Amino acid sequence: MANYLVVGGAGYIGSHMVRTLLDAGHDVTVLDDISRGHAASVPAELLVRGDLGDRALLDELFTQRRFDCVMHFAAFAQVGESVQEPLAYYRNNTSRAVELLDAMKHAGIDRFIFSSTAATYGEPVRLPIDEDHPTVPTNPYGRSKRFLEQVLDDCEQAWGLRSVRLRYFNAAGAHPSGEIGEDHSPESHLVPLLLQVALGQRKDIAIFGTDWDTRDGTCIRDYVHICDLAKAHMLASEHLAAGGGTRTFNLGCEEGTSVREMIDVARKVTGHPIPSVDSARRAGDPARLVASSARIRSELGWAPEFDTPEWIVRTAWRWHRSHPQGYATS
Ligand SMILES: NC(=O)c1ccc[n+]([C@@H]2O[C@H](COP(=O)([O-])OP(=O)(O)OC[C@H]3O[C@@H](n4cnc5c(N)ncnc54)[C@H](O)[C@@H]3O)[C@@H](O)[C@H]2O)c1
Repeated sequence: MANYLVVGGAGYIGSHMVRTLLDAGHDVTVLDDISRGHAASVPAELLVRGDLGDRALLDELFTQRRFDCVMHFAAFAQVGESVQEPLAYYRNNTSRAVELLDAMKHAGIDRFIFSSTAATYGEPVRLPIDEDHPTVPTNPYGRSKRFLEQVLDDCEQAWGLRSVRLRYFNAAGAHPSGEIGEDHSPESHLVPLLLQVALGQRKDIAIFGTDWDTRDGTCIRDYVHICDLAKAHMLASEHLAAGGGTRTFNLGCEEGTSVREMIDVARKVTGHPIPSVDSARRAGDPARLVASSARIRSELGWAPEFDTPEWIVRTAWRWHRSHPQGYATS
């Protein structure tokens, strides 16, 4: 059994990771400032409330406890906001993470798992996107993440940090128990927005562009279930624990789902008509974003189990129906 520090563990993806680690019998400490997460999403006794850039807090934490591995989920993650407030993104996603890495260096911790993103690639020049695709991010969010990947390369050269960078495509779904799930404010992800319509909290769902060069004219994205994401982190951690070196892996299911297809699935699962409104294209949206995850499948044996849109929406619906106001419900 290992001892993990999960930074940003009270967020959507982090809280599912914490649950997965605890179910596997590991020791977990969560560091989260709750700026965008929810204290109720993790066991209270595991939560250290604080900023990942607070060096004194980090040093104290690393002196008190011996961590085998740090998993880093904490970041701001809204593309539009990053365009409006780029410095907030470079500060939170890059500079503060540098403090975390420096504290790890001083504490002698050399295993790091990083939540990176498809946004590091920018406009796709070929599909599916594999890890060797050029990385030309088109917004400050993507750049703030790509910078950190480059910082990780330099740390490896300088002091032997080993990292796994997991570039997620669209994380979606909820824990099958219905006890934890997605609760972002404001919400920008398609699945929770659809379910908010089904709950009567929104009138309809806007479809941004219906004339794309895709099978039904709407954008195609690659959705990966949150539990499959967590499983990939477990495999990444085992890889590092066995002495494995730095790797970068995409996490997607290789199958794209169009906006209209996801709307139809949500209608079927919820039994609600979910009205949609055809709207203009948004600037900067690529028509299709689909990952090749061949590398992690062959190197680490990752095999998504919950990769159907039905399962994604069904588990998300269980969470949203029992928590219509998110964590504020309970
Ligand atoms: N959700 C997706 O589809 C998606 C896709 C690609 C990449 N990612 C990446 O995955 C990670 C997690 O995403 P999420 O959807 O769970 O986001 P989230 O906002 O739900 O979780 C982020 C957590 O980090 C915490 N946090 C932020 N800044 C902090 C700081 N300075 N100190 C301490 N805690 C801080 C927040 O309070 C929150 O609990 C992010 O790094 C994001 O960039 C997410």
